[in-house]
Amino acid sequence: MPGKSTLIAPSILSADFSDLKSSLELAEKAGADWIHCDVMDGAFVPNITFGPIVVQAIAKNTSLVVDTHLMIADPDRYIEDFVKAGSHQVTVHQEACPHLHRTIQFIRSLGAKAGVSINPATPVSVLESILPDLDLVLLMSVNPGFGGQKFIPSSIDKIARLDQMRRNMNPQMLIAVDGGVTEENAAELSAAGADALIAGTAFFRAADPAAAARKIKGLA
Ligand code: DX5
Ligand code: ZN
Repeated sequence: MPGKSTLIAPSILSADFSDLKSSLELAEKAGADWIHCDVMDGAFVPNITFGPIVVQAIAKNTSLVVDTHLMIADPDRYIEDFVKAGSHQVTVHQEACPHLHRTIQFIRSLGAKAGVSINPATPVSVLESILPDLDLVLLMSVNPGFGGQKFIPSSIDKIARLDQMRRNMNPQMLIAVDGGVTEENAAELSAAGADALIAGTAFFRAADPAAAARKIKGLA
């Protein structure tokens, strides 16, 4: 959305799990827009994180938009639990959903915004038929599973292509980019068409997270 500052979504994955409350306060005070919750199951991705109980604890302790990224196989089994836990947005992986249209309708029927994520090796063209039904697309710019990985440069072209696609099909839809976002590459990602940037390491591990957030949002 041209003219608006880029949204920043700190990823709780890089926060201090022994003190989530302070991490949420830090994000709010830094001007964060969403809080990104990375759910991993050890099957779709090689790592395990947390489930609805932790998302509920996060939702109860923040006024930020709770943005839940499900990196789990067969996510339909758990979508309702994550919406009930307080997720405002639920994003599933295209690679994990054989009946993606049904899954998206299900998320929306529960009153949450619906997103689809694609891995670095998945082309944006697979989203063509579902694009009109989406609130957001989360482009993975690293292979999902871990924080702190290096940004995959071919993701820039995917942002630009998706930006073109949405112009005709769904201009309201947001493009979010997840993985390896830094203060250095944020401006290029926004210029390519990203509306929201997920930042784990670049936010929570920054010497000055508030300054990092302003930079990533394009305000400094
Ligand atoms: C990766 C997760 C990301 C991760 C980003 O599988 O989906 O959201 O937390 O971490 P950074 O910003 O450190 O790459
Ligand atoms: Zn994520």
